[in-house]
Amino acid sequence: MQNRQILVTNALPYANGPIHLGHLLGYIQADVWVRFQRMRGHTVHYVCADDAHGTSIMLSAEKAAVAPEDWIEGIRQQHHRDFQRFAVDFDIYHSTHSVENRELAAALYQQLQQHDRIATRSITQLYDPEKGLFLADRFIKGTCPRCKAPDQYGDNCEVCASTYAATDLLDPRSTISGATPVLKSSEHYFFKLPEFADFLRSWTRSGVLVPAVANKLAEWIDGGLQEWDISRDAPYFGFEIPGAPGKYFYVWLDAPIGYMASFRKLCDERGLSFDAFWRDGSATELWHFIGKDIVNFHALFWPAMLQTAGFRLPTALSVNGFLTVNGQKMSKSRGTFITADTYFRHLNPEYLRYYFAAKLGPNPDDLDLNLEDFALRVNSDLVGKVVNIASRCAGFISKGFDGLLSVVDSEPVLTAEFRAAAEEIAGYYDQREFSKAVRTIMALADRANAWIAERQPWVLAKTAPQSPEVQAICSVGLNLFRLLMIYLKPVLPGMARQVEQFLQVAPLSFADADSVLLQHRIGTFTPLMTRVDPSAVAAMIEDSKDSLTTTPTERAVDSPLTREPIAAEIEFPDFAKVDLRVARVLDARQVEGADKLLQLTLDLGPGADGASVQRNVFSGIKSAYQPESLVGKYVVLVANLKARKMKFGWSEGMILAAGSGKDIFLIAPHDGALPGSRVT
Ligand code: MSP
Ligand code: ZN
Repeated sequence: MQNRQILVTNALPYANGPIHLGHLLGYIQADVWVRFQRMRGHTVHYVCADDAHGTSIMLSAEKAAVAPEDWIEGIRQQHHRDFQRFAVDFDIYHSTHSVENRELAAALYQQLQQHDRIATRSITQLYDPEKGLFLADRFIKGTCPRCKAPDQYGDNCEVCASTYAATDLLDPRSTISGATPVLKSSEHYFFKLPEFADFLRSWTRSGVLVPAVANKLAEWIDGGLQEWDISRDAPYFGFEIPGAPGKYFYVWLDAPIGYMASFRKLCDERGLSFDAFWRDGSATELWHFIGKDIVNFHALFWPAMLQTAGFRLPTALSVNGFLTVNGQKMSKSRGTFITADTYFRHLNPEYLRYYFAAKLGPNPDDLDLNLEDFALRVNSDLVGKVVNIASRCAGFISKGFDGLLSVVDSEPVLTAEFRAAAEEIAGYYDQREFSKAVRTIMALADRANAWIAERQPWVLAKTAPQSPEVQAICSVGLNLFRLLMIYLKPVLPGMARQVEQFLQVAPLSFADADSVLLQHRIGTFTPLMTRVDPSAVAAMIEDSKDSLTTTPTERAVDSPLTREPIAAEIEFPDFAKVDLRVARVLDARQVEGADKLLQLTLDLGPGADGASVQRNVFSGIKSAYQPESLVGKYVVLVANLKARKMKFGWSEGMILAAGSGKDIFLIAPHDGALPGSRVT
């Protein structure tokens, strides 16, 4: 088989909020495909980055009172951590706000200009005079011109479903400042997309897209393409357009160039050839994995830009559908808007990888995470079928035969059948028919279990634990198990690693399906995966409900009208004596017999020896917080406060909170702060 050289990109998440399970669908899909290709011996570079530009990110940073550069770096680290937790194994996780991207965006833009693909003209838009900002539709609200419903967004009415221009809204307001917008004109830069209609018509039909997506694009292309506005006026967080002071590239211009920028950085780090993947497409492949909502950017603007600037075109776009949870759009009030972080605190990421893979195909169909089905499926397939094979056989080999597998394969026909399935399964993975791959693997698992059940090694072992027959049956069982784990490894890399250790074999690749383990010594079996605990699922949902955010009106009722007077002045050195640290709540529980206290276990990050430093703290916040809602939250700890002996035990420090009674609010650092960092 020829060695393929593949560059895979995943959509770049906005640096504006946490990764949630919806995002993870497309990233897990790409990661499984990448791992599979690597297991086939191909070379894959897998890159991603945060998409760091735009008005929303600028406003979020402003609201958090931090510089946008700091804001995006904090989120980038969080995103990368979340992907790593779900075994999404990028070679690089960069940012679109990088030197590489600035250079590449300028270079591409220059090409577009040189080829006369950029037009400029003045347009008139709504403008927030207070904030000094042009307003996109989502930043304008007002009364629907058709049905007069109040509080509707600038482009369409949620009540009567009519669409209109923001300028048609009655009594429009800026959602940023509340000011009444005024009309203002400015010069904008446009990419002349309509000139590419013929090129795009043929490119989108050239096999780079599944037919369902190509058809959708044909509708758009035939409906007439519009010139694309690629500039935004200052203030904007992004790259200034060379030669156009005060004008910035629209975030979507430099976002896909971010794929190149990430790869450019990887090339610098690893000595790879950038041009082999971006200039000359003859010996390499370029795959973009994206969600269905961003197809137009990747299948229209992007190829037209690449073509103009003399770059290669993508080999394929893989498009995923949207995730629903329990049949509905993810919702904060139902607790189904589940972040990667919340999931991770309750459940094993490999459960989710398996569930997604079991339902994914190459088409952009929406996928439902039904949490009941999720638990049933993981338990019955992974624990009940796959792990069961190993746990039925391993003990007898360890106890009766000192871990040694038999010298010959006593069931070569069955083993051969399992081995022969490798090509069929590989074909499914390659075509992104993951659900078919999983179905085939599980059918084999059923056969393996049935075969073992028929031979009942446990009955034989009772009377003759060292009989060659027991060794023969269990050796066959473990070899079948090994083959199944080869096939599942792209989906379950963590479990595969444990299995490699248990079987004492080198990292498994697809080619290993050619062999069986004979006269080989295995290690001790440790439980590879536990069942999904329904109470953990329930706790995850509870944790995803916005329990810590109550609306101001709910709180205002019994809030104090007067504040305590400010205390006597102190000098800075007095303040500096207080060592405040960021801490993460590892565990929170009720304290039996205490009216006001909760007991918290806090993580203060790694100490000198690398192990996590933990503190036990009793805190009088019971009236305002459910203990479960605190796990994983970040708090501020007075870390050098002398430990105090309380009725219920020692309290090692205090955490900061404001207010009293039901109006206690824990003081929390902004997202991205690391446990153990000093608060000054
Ligand atoms: N920043 C852009 C992508 C730029 S690519 C050059 C963006 N970011 S995003 O954070 O909104 O989305 C990141 C990816 O997650 C996209 O592929 C998007 O389609 C996908 N999804 C976001 N929500 C999703 C679901 N609920 N379900 C499935 N995929 C989802 O778009
Ligand atoms: Zn209306």
